[in-house]
Amino acid sequence: MKTAYLFLTYLSLLTLCLCPSRAATSEAEGLMRWKSSLSSSASLKSWSVNNISNHCRWIGIRCNDGGSVSGIDLPGADLVGTLDLFHFTALLNLTTFNLNGNALNGSIPAALGNLTSLTLLDLSNNLFSGAIPPEIGRLTEL
Ligand SMILES: *[C@@H]1O[C@H](CO)[C@@H](O)[C@H](O)[C@H]1NC(C)=O
Ligand SMILES: *[C@@H]1O[C@H](CO)[C@@H](O)[C@H](O)[C@H]1NC(C)=O
Ligand SMILES: *[C@@H]1O[C@H](CO)[C@@H](O)[C@H](O)[C@H]1NC(C)=O
Ligand SMILES: *[C@@H]1O[C@H](CO)[C@@H](O)[C@H](O)[C@H]1NC(C)=O
Repeated sequence: MKTAYLFLTYLSLLTLCLCPSRAATSEAEGLMRWKSSLSSSASLKSWSVNNISNHCRWIGIRCNDGGSVSGIDLPGADLVGTLDLFHFTALLNLTTFNLNGNALNGSIPAALGNLTSLTLLDLSNNLFSGAIPPEIGRLTEL
């Protein structure tokens, strides 16, 4: 009886939960995955697993009216690492992506070419090496 009661309470809590949508959660998790891959990210303190539901207010993050991440603006944020684990496919609504003036190295991933809504892309003043992938040509809104 008690178990059934608890179960029902749990169910009603589930339906009442003002949880962020699944898409928003995977965007936040994608951002966290990238942050974890960085060897220096002290400026991203607000990017926290304890604060997934607030990810639209994380530093450098802007969302559209639908609560989906539309901008990452982190110029001069002292980021050290690569874009290898950046979750491009979870962040397809990005219109601005500005990482100017950090210490990111490695290659520029071809998956960047999937961010076809981008109107602003600034990866300059970093330590990237290798060729610029031809997939960048798919970013026709830049
Ligand atoms: C969550 O992020 C917001 C915006 O950056 C901040 O004001 C708030 O203190 C954070 N809360 C926690 C629990 O980290
Ligand atoms: C893009 O944003 C819209 C809301 O404006 C949302 O419905 C959609 O799920 C988002 N797409 C992705 C891939 O997150
Ligand atoms: C990036 O720089 C770090 C040192 O800061 C180095 O260990 C690493 O091999 C570099 N990675 C690439 C892909 O160049
Ligand atoms: C772009 O996205 C498609 C599917 O969403 C995926 O199959 C493809 O591998 C992505 N492109 C790159 C270069 O990652």
